[in-house]
Amino acid sequence: MTGDKLSGELHLTDLLGLPPSHWLILICHLSFVICHFPLAMDDELGTLQSEALAEIANAQNVIELDQVRVKYLGRSGLISKLSESMRSLPKEDRPRVGKLLNEVRSALDRAFADKSEAFAAQQDLVALDDLDETLPASPVRVGALHPLTQLQDQAIRIFRRLGFTMAAGPDIETEWHCFDALNTPPNHPARNESDTFYFPDGRLLRTHTSTVQIRTMVADVPPIRVIAPGGAYRRDEMDATHLSQFNQLEGLYVDKRVTVADLKGTLEYFVRELLGPKVETRMRPHFFPFTEPSLEMDVRLPGVNAGKWMELLGCGMVDPAVFEQVNQRRGDQAYDPEAWTGYAFGMGLDRLAMALFGLPDIRLLIENDQRFLAQFNS
Ligand code: PHE
Repeated sequence: MTGDKLSGELHLTDLLGLPPSHWLILICHLSFVICHFPLAMDDELGTLQSEALAEIANAQNVIELDQVRVKYLGRSGLISKLSESMRSLPKEDRPRVGKLLNEVRSALDRAFADKSEAFAAQQDLVALDDLDETLPASPVRVGALHPLTQLQDQAIRIFRRLGFTMAAGPDIETEWHCFDALNTPPNHPARNESDTFYFPDGRLLRTHTSTVQIRTMVADVPPIRVIAPGGAYRRDEMDATHLSQFNQLEGLYVDKRVTVADLKGTLEYFVRELLGPKVETRMRPHFFPFTEPSLEMDVRLPGVNAGKWMELLGCGMVDPAVFEQVNQRRGDQAYDPEAWTGYAFGMGLDRLAMALFGLPDIRLLIENDQRFLAQFNS
């Protein structure tokens, strides 16, 4: 700080180098400086503030503004020099000058912040100058559920309202779950290698979702009320109406005194909810090894499939022989055929989708052609 006029310090050696006649003058001078220095510093701060504010206002760009900032607020800038020289002030003046210094510093801080914000806003304006917000945005392609999934979800929702819960089983099954437990004799044609995909270990790809009836009853005691949507597999040649993998929705209801009337009422309600009040239904006698009696249900919708009857599902009352198989596997009499009765049904969702959506070829459902799928994006 030596030699700094603001410091107010004077070294003894400076005095000693002078003739004694000058001492008095110097000491007078010195006391004047010491007494007046605090006020001089007030003035200096005032001047510094107005000069700095003017320079900030005049800065033409960010670079100039930064130069001004370094000059005043930088680590060895004017403000920090001033605050260092405060140390040489008389004790009683320090708080006041210190406060003043802080006020100047924050006034400058604020001015710098305001000015750089103004520069940023200006830059934004320039950047957005040629932006035309009236131009149409680039389209967002929204995906949609596959039509089969939409149909399946709709069906599930209807059965949910009737108190059915979801059940599931594996696609790779044992022969017992797929055939034996379902009362299918060893010589039944469905068991042929030409109809069913077998694995070398004897397991197979389930040919229907009725396997889930068995898995549910082996695991749980009655009453039972479940639906099981899922894939099924048959060794069909693929063509416009056949796939080797298709989708079924299975249902099983076991309780006391369940009758064909319950089955018919439930399915008719389901079909009306799904296809609307104009749909006609009919039931035909049929045969399945695991239901007795067995039926098939057809539907006819005006305007769909040229108003032709369409086979929708197979169904029937659970054959007591199935209950016996389940009891044997469980090792109890939970499904005593004298106490419990039940119905089951299974429908093919792919054929239904074909008829509903007017599809000329079932393969459209598995080809993943965006032109086809996009039509179901409602
Ligand atoms: N599993 C039969 C089929 O795939 C449908 C069915 C299910 C029939 C339940 C009766 C009871 O054709």
